[in-house]
Amino acid sequence: MRFEEVPCESTMLCADKIEMKALINFYLNEASKEDKDKLYSAARHIRDVNDGPRVFLRGLIEFSSFCRNDCFYCGLCSTNRNAVRYRMSAQEILETIEEGYKLGFRSFVLQSGEDPYYFSGRLTEIVSESKRQFPNIAVTLSVGVLDPVLYLELFRAGADRFLLRHETADENHFAKLHDASQHFSLRKESLESMKQIGYQIGAGFMVGSPFQNVDTLTEDFLFLRSLAPHMVGMGPFRPHQDTIFSRFPQGSAEDTLVLTALCRLMLPKVMLPVTTALASCDIKYRTDAFRAGANVMMPCLTPQKYRDSYAIYDGKLSSLSEAAENVVQIKAQILTEGLRAEMSRGDHFDFRD
Ligand code: 5AD
Repeated sequence: MRFEEVPCESTMLCADKIEMKALINFYLNEASKEDKDKLYSAARHIRDVNDGPRVFLRGLIEFSSFCRNDCFYCGLCSTNRNAVRYRMSAQEILETIEEGYKLGFRSFVLQSGEDPYYFSGRLTEIVSESKRQFPNIAVTLSVGVLDPVLYLELFRAGADRFLLRHETADENHFAKLHDASQHFSLRKESLESMKQIGYQIGAGFMVGSPFQNVDTLTEDFLFLRSLAPHMVGMGPFRPHQDTIFSRFPQGSAEDTLVLTALCRLMLPKVMLPVTTALASCDIKYRTDAFRAGANVMMPCLTPQKYRDSYAIYDGKLSSLSEAAENVVQIKAQILTEGLRAEMSRGDHFDFRD
């Protein structure tokens, strides 16, 4: 099927499963360069009219590389004996937030493997202390699936947002990527309950993960449409040498751009980050992602000594233009794209006063 017109918001909102699949298939497998350019241009127009031509910066702190799960794609999976494991103390995390604060960041993402060490009070304490010391920051957690009572406890402690990529909305595909203890339904329920609690929530998936196809991507889009998260993280799959997926090919950066643009058209006000995985393929894709409707970047604030150990895939970029200490250059580069770099809390449109 050819699409003469770039799909508008209502096309994306009304498309049934067959139409959604045809759209995704067309833009991934049949569209010309010109078709794709039109799609990107429509997506950045939608971003600009809905939330302004700007990019929200968030400081990323990867505070623990321990993980209890065995996600077959991830270098931090529990079965990887070669992974270097570290944990940052509460004090180290707070000092890192302070460093970011001095650089101008007011939005922080605390990310880790699924590490129970923090679950019996430590993480709650870290969140409440960070909000006590820096009341005007936003705190986003990206720490995996938790006991449901913890979502409420952390929210009450001051956590504003929670990122939990659903990874794939197709149950069978999910089972091929994860150990048997994990289920898509659990991620879905977690995301729904966090939204109910009042978090700004983020879902997402890897592009080109093993066994992904147009059908599973269609499920992803239908799932995202009904969930309506405040943020969607999409980055290409990148193999890690110590995982069972080490020989699977890297996901396509161009497909990532296409899906970013389609997501922007479907959810006009959503926060769409340029992921480190995409920038790690080639730094030029960062500019391309901004041109395809992305509006968030998360420079790395993780202390230097830990950066190489947070190795979820091979060749992860954590220096130069991905490093928070280079925020001046990062802002300058954003400006050359005709966009403004925002270092405020950067709430989703629906959460602003
Ligand atoms: N390639 C790309 N992204 C990955 N992630 C984990 N492993 C990889 C990989 N090999 C992504 C997952 C996870 C997020 C923190 O990083 O989608 O949710």
